[in-house]
Amino acid sequence: MDERLLSSTEFGSEIEIQKNLRPKTLNEYIGQDRLKEKLEIFMTASKNRNESMDHTLLYGPPGLGKTTLAGVIATEMGTNLKVTSGPVLDKAGDLAAILTSLEEQDILFIDEIHRLNTSVEEILYPAMEDREIDIIIGKGPTARSIRIELPNFTLIGATTRAGLLSAPLRDRFGLVHRMDYYSTEDLIKIIMRGGNILDVEIESEGALEMALRSRGTPRIANRFLKRVRDYAEIRGDGIITLKIAKEALSLLGVDDYGLDELDREIILSIIDNYDGGPVGIETLALLLGEDRRTLEEIYEPYLVKIGFIKRTHRGRVVTPKAYKHFNKKEKTEGNL
Ligand code: ADE
Repeated sequence: MDERLLSSTEFGSEIEIQKNLRPKTLNEYIGQDRLKEKLEIFMTASKNRNESMDHTLLYGPPGLGKTTLAGVIATEMGTNLKVTSGPVLDKAGDLAAILTSLEEQDILFIDEIHRLNTSVEEILYPAMEDREIDIIIGKGPTARSIRIELPNFTLIGATTRAGLLSAPLRDRFGLVHRMDYYSTEDLIKIIMRGGNILDVEIESEGALEMALRSRGTPRIANRFLKRVRDYAEIRGDGIITLKIAKEALSLLGVDDYGLDELDREIILSIIDNYDGGPVGIETLALLLGEDRRTLEEIYEPYLVKIGFIKRTHRGRVVTPKAYKHFNKKEKTEGNL
């Protein structure tokens, strides 16, 4: 197997469960209704014409089911899916090897597509537009370029940061869609569906509690489901009740907004060290000893979404809502 392609078959049972919880068809896929409607139309139209679907870019916070959706599209179109990611594709030849191994109508999924390096990205342009690539063979005066025709294929790109994509790359996608956080109702449905698959009984209040703390993210909801199920089996009678869900989630260090230890550190360090901000992201990353990208791509979007942090041109600012949640007093002119 090509090591640039990611395989999950050799991993343990946790990954197997994750795979089993993943919906395979559009019908099983919960939420993202507008996206599903668009995909249904474009997939059916391309199938009717016996063409491959247009290249599609999915962007938005991690864990919302971009990879899952690529799998769903492949199933619905009856084609193969090859999965790779931006950081894995080191050299132009890595991508060329994958592209030339594709079969007619295959789907190529590139996760973290904003992290492709320029030489690799440049191979993608003619591949996407004209379904051909030019490869340089040899070095120096005897080097020559040969053109290779590619089969009709669909590229599905995924990114947490559409703003970091170069304009030429973004423009080559026929469909660009921003995926948003899931509603509590959809997360409850996802948790109940997971409960069915894992054969665990979940009371509706228990499901609601897990949904409320899943920060709008199915990947987190499914992770909680597995951990709360463990807790229910050991500390309860196997049924996920409200009490069991609350106890298990607080054992995991997840509060009632779904915030974990690093979320709390982010907010509290801005409050305690910078009087609530503004503070720059680089300074914050240094202070917390965390990678800037992790803060920007994973933590910040949700803290902004629930209104705990505001991004201003001078840096990040903690809101009164967050002060209240953490029982902190805002500094005013009077008590400075
Ligand atoms: N598991 C993860 N994402 C899902 C979704 N959108 N629908 C159903 N199950 C899921």
